Amino acid sequence: MAQNSKELISQPLAESRWGLHGKRVLIAVSAGVAAYKTCILVRDLMRAGANIKIVMTEAARAFVSAETFQALSGEPVYTDLWDDRISNRMAHIELGRWADAIMIAPASADVMARLAHGICNDLLSTLCLARPRDRCLLLIAPAMNKEMWSHPATQRNAATLAKDGTIFLGPDRGDQACGETGDGRMLEPEDLLQALEHALSPKLLAGRHCLITAGPTFEAIDPVRGITNRSSGKMGFAIARAASQAGALVQLIAGPVCLASPWQVQRTDVVSAIDMKLAVDRAIDSLPSDKVKHAIFISVAAVADWRPAEIASQKIKKQHGESTPSLRFVENPDILASVAARSPRPFCVGFAAESEMLHQYGEAKRKKKNIPLLAANIGHETFGQDLNQLLLLDERGSESLPLATKEKLAQQFIEAIASRLT
Ligand SMILES: Cc1cc2nc3c(=O)[nH]c(=O)nc-3n(C[C@H](O)[C@H](O)[C@H](O)COP(=O)(O)O)c2cc1C
Repeated sequence: MAQNSKELISQPLAESRWGLHGKRVLIAVSAGVAAYKTCILVRDLMRAGANIKIVMTEAARAFVSAETFQALSGEPVYTDLWDDRISNRMAHIELGRWADAIMIAPASADVMARLAHGICNDLLSTLCLARPRDRCLLLIAPAMNKEMWSHPATQRNAATLAKDGTIFLGPDRGDQACGETGDGRMLEPEDLLQALEHALSPKLLAGRHCLITAGPTFEAIDPVRGITNRSSGKMGFAIARAASQAGALVQLIAGPVCLASPWQVQRTDVVSAIDMKLAVDRAIDSLPSDKVKHAIFISVAAVADWRPAEIASQKIKKQHGESTPSLRFVENPDILASVAARSPRPFCVGFAAESEMLHQYGEAKRKKKNIPLLAANIGHETFGQDLNQLLLLDERGSESLPLATKEKLAQQFIEAIASRLT
């Protein structure tokens, strides 16, 4: 497919301030075994709505064919500095001008060496040097044998590139294609995707500490039984992901859920409401008080209001013909209210999962807990689902965030929080 430089730069601009949708991502592939993983990355970027172009080094084509990448991306693949599909024959200029970000995955030791020294002897290296650095990010995902990675020459080159503003993603530690184990594995496609999402999102919470609780709690009755609720943790995890994309240092305290941790989010798993309170207190106590004032606490977890007064040490046995056991409950600590009562205290945000009268119950809860912002939602309609809608309540009134994916809502929610911070 012929494509000239005018067509290259006249494509629509990014549609969203957040993440990948509508963003222009140039994937640059150099010659390493991990190039097969880049195929999955390209597919996932397409699914996330990114506009993609692909550049390969000549040697990379020995690992994965240009045809594979062309089929996956639906775009021509560029290898040649002299590519005549670009009318002015300056692919190295036009491709860099087009891109919001260039990600080299895998980045070979050789490519790193060339970039660190400003060597421009193929399309990939030349376009990285020629890109407009003020608006086109360069991210690199090294992948190589552990001896190649730890070699002083490679380490020097990595340090030079980092000093020049290159964003390093990995490498990871683990089994290598050469049969060894150590540092040098390329990050997994899902991690690279999330890293790109981060890099391309607005830094609304740059450097702020953000503590988030998510999921249900589980209140034990005996060693095998307990009381919980239907919260899946999806909303809280989406908020943790968005806060991290926005540049916050995120600590996520999660009840029992089956969800993967978002990229760069520090996670603590807990079971009961008491465990969750201890973890929240520990996280806040570990911050210096001047940081607490600028921190954000978002209480998304559906914490059980009550727990059984006694936990049987052995499984309560079913006794035929005898009466059923009765449970006595005691109240759990109110984690959100206790954080809001601290001095200094973080900016506190609550969630209310109601089944009716969102505005009335939500506002009553906000006032009772003495917090500046509360998001009310219909619990039984959203628990476990991928979609949600929120009613935001603060002292100025209410604002609706209409039905959307939890990821999208989380980003809008973070924007709403950021706009209320001093
Ligand atoms: C089978 C094989 C696997 C290789 N795997 C890697 C690798 O994972 N990482 C790396 O930096 N180099 C690797 N190399 C060496 C590079 O392919 C070689 O340095 C090449 O010249 C790099 O070219 P490029 O940087 O232009 O893509 C490998 C070589 C071979 C033959």
